[in-house]
Amino acid sequence: MCGIVGYVGSQSALDVVLAGLKRLEYRGYDSAGVAVLADGGLASARKAGKLANLEKELVERPLPAGATGIGHTRWATHGGPTDANAHPHLDNAGRVAVVHNGIIENFAELRAELAERGHVLESETDTEVVAHLLAEEFSVCAGLAEAMRLVCRRLEGAFTLVAVHADEPDVVVGARRNSPLVVGVGEDEAFLASDVAAFIAHTRSAIELGQDQVVELRRDGVGDGVTVTDFDGRPAEVRSYHVDWDASAAEKGGYDYFMLKEIAEQPKAVADTLLGRIGVDGALTLDELRIPATVLKEVDKVVIVACGTAFHAGLIAKYAIEHWTRIPCEVELASEFRYRDPILGGRSLVIAISQSGETMDTLMALRHARDQGATVLAICNTNGSTIPRESDAVLYTHAGPEVAVASTKAFLTQLVACYLVALYLGQVRGTKWGDEIRAVIRDLADISGEVERVLETMEPVRTLARSLSDKRTVLFLGRHVGYPVALEGALKLKELAYMHAEGFAAGELKHGPIALIEDDVPVVVVVPSPKGRSVLHDKIVSNIQEIRARGARTIVIAEEGDEAVVPYADHLVRIPATPTLLQPLVAAVPLQVFACELATARGNEVDQPRNLAKSVTVE
Ligand code: F6R
Repeated sequence: MCGIVGYVGSQSALDVVLAGLKRLEYRGYDSAGVAVLADGGLASARKAGKLANLEKELVERPLPAGATGIGHTRWATHGGPTDANAHPHLDNAGRVAVVHNGIIENFAELRAELAERGHVLESETDTEVVAHLLAEEFSVCAGLAEAMRLVCRRLEGAFTLVAVHADEPDVVVGARRNSPLVVGVGEDEAFLASDVAAFIAHTRSAIELGQDQVVELRRDGVGDGVTVTDFDGRPAEVRSYHVDWDASAAEKGGYDYFMLKEIAEQPKAVADTLLGRIGVDGALTLDELRIPATVLKEVDKVVIVACGTAFHAGLIAKYAIEHWTRIPCEVELASEFRYRDPILGGRSLVIAISQSGETMDTLMALRHARDQGATVLAICNTNGSTIPRESDAVLYTHAGPEVAVASTKAFLTQLVACYLVALYLGQVRGTKWGDEIRAVIRDLADISGEVERVLETMEPVRTLARSLSDKRTVLFLGRHVGYPVALEGALKLKELAYMHAEGFAAGELKHGPIALIEDDVPVVVVVPSPKGRSVLHDKIVSNIQEIRARGARTIVIAEEGDEAVVPYADHLVRIPATPTLLQPLVAAVPLQVFACELATARGNEVDQPRNLAKSVTVE
């Protein structure tokens, strides 16, 4: 949510910052802006709308060349998406520029104070107060980094700030509380960004900043020129790391959209998430969890917290955890969790699932869980992000960078990680399902090939999606693990196609939602395997007949060889047969393709759906 870039070095800061913003646009696209230090002064430009609007503005009104600069791509919080509210924000003298991600909660009070002292604030944002405060502090203290520390001590809320001052042309300063900020260290240059994607084309050497830290990047001797302190000026400990993917992973690679590329990458992402985690003896080796077996054996309750798509992964995990471990498992929307006074204790295991590792709702939920004495395990895709850093243990998914706002490969890898945790808990605790667990581990090892097979047969799904582009509503039904898959299918369609889409447990139909069925309304039904869970299967076949009798157009997702559904399917999408609990890994894929294609047919921006941002760093 909001993307930030800062650069100091010897290249054109404007080029570096704009290229970085392009990679961060997934974080928000309500407006964009840049500031560069050049010729003893500060020059800036900002524009409402996508980055392309800013680029056009810069062609019409170029900025002078400079080697120090900052930039911002915005997801609006305080103040609408206008030019005036776009970042960077400047002080009245135009000497200091600041960009911000987060929410400054005491901004109204600070704004009133500044107005009393004669400052004129021009935007409706919370950020502008920081530019004015920095200018005031800079005039009486030892430099921009010190001014930043003094200002941060006065701010409340969540904020990542990056600033430059015309009187310190070789310096960029950043500060971090809650929202992400990473440093990139190149040769004679350094970067600050919300995400390593912004500087990966220049360096893969990164430094992770901790909570409440201020970083100063200096051109003179950069490398040594990175200084990190806490808000009181005490030297802070930081962790350096090497980014294990390269610039090509963050490119579209010939696809029209990142989402298409990320859907296609799923077999590899699934295989990468399993890599090294299944031993030669067929047992799981998750020593990386760093939670002693003695603690896992004592767990008496699992609670999963997550948001959006990650929450759907959690709903599926509940079926797996309870079945394979017999430990009660609750799944809760992270945004609701801490407000309902949940019952946790030393034997509770809380699993926080997050692609970005920065989702504020999930972060707050895990902090609450730790305060209650629970052990927290993060399932996360982003190395070094806040959620794994604040958890007791982490199981990384290895989906690689996910750029499209709608989550696809991250979802499948979250599922894989959840299965691994469930199976591992079962393995460690030695439940009566030992044989089944060993068999499922074998099936899991082959599952990426099955995902590949699904992808090879998606053309009819695309054709179908295009033919439905003028519909107003699509409903999704499922039972058992097919129910969260239905929820996920509906979420994808809502966020990408801007259509009314709802997922239901098929058994709930008769308790109300069946009233929505009218002539030709498309209903997607995720059908459980006829093997193993035949009762469930039979029940959903009855549900399909019920809705078809009322005029629904049925789109049935059923496994190969399931002939019972054929008479009732207006459109039949085949998926490979898998063990019931693993079926979401193949059943979710056609729903992703369906939503992506339908959104394209409606002329929507697939990678950047309206009003959304990929990383939601405010509550
Ligand atoms: C939907 C989507 C969102 C995220 C949610 C959590 O396609 O991407 O619903 O799943 O915002 O994000 P993370 O996983 O980064 O915590």
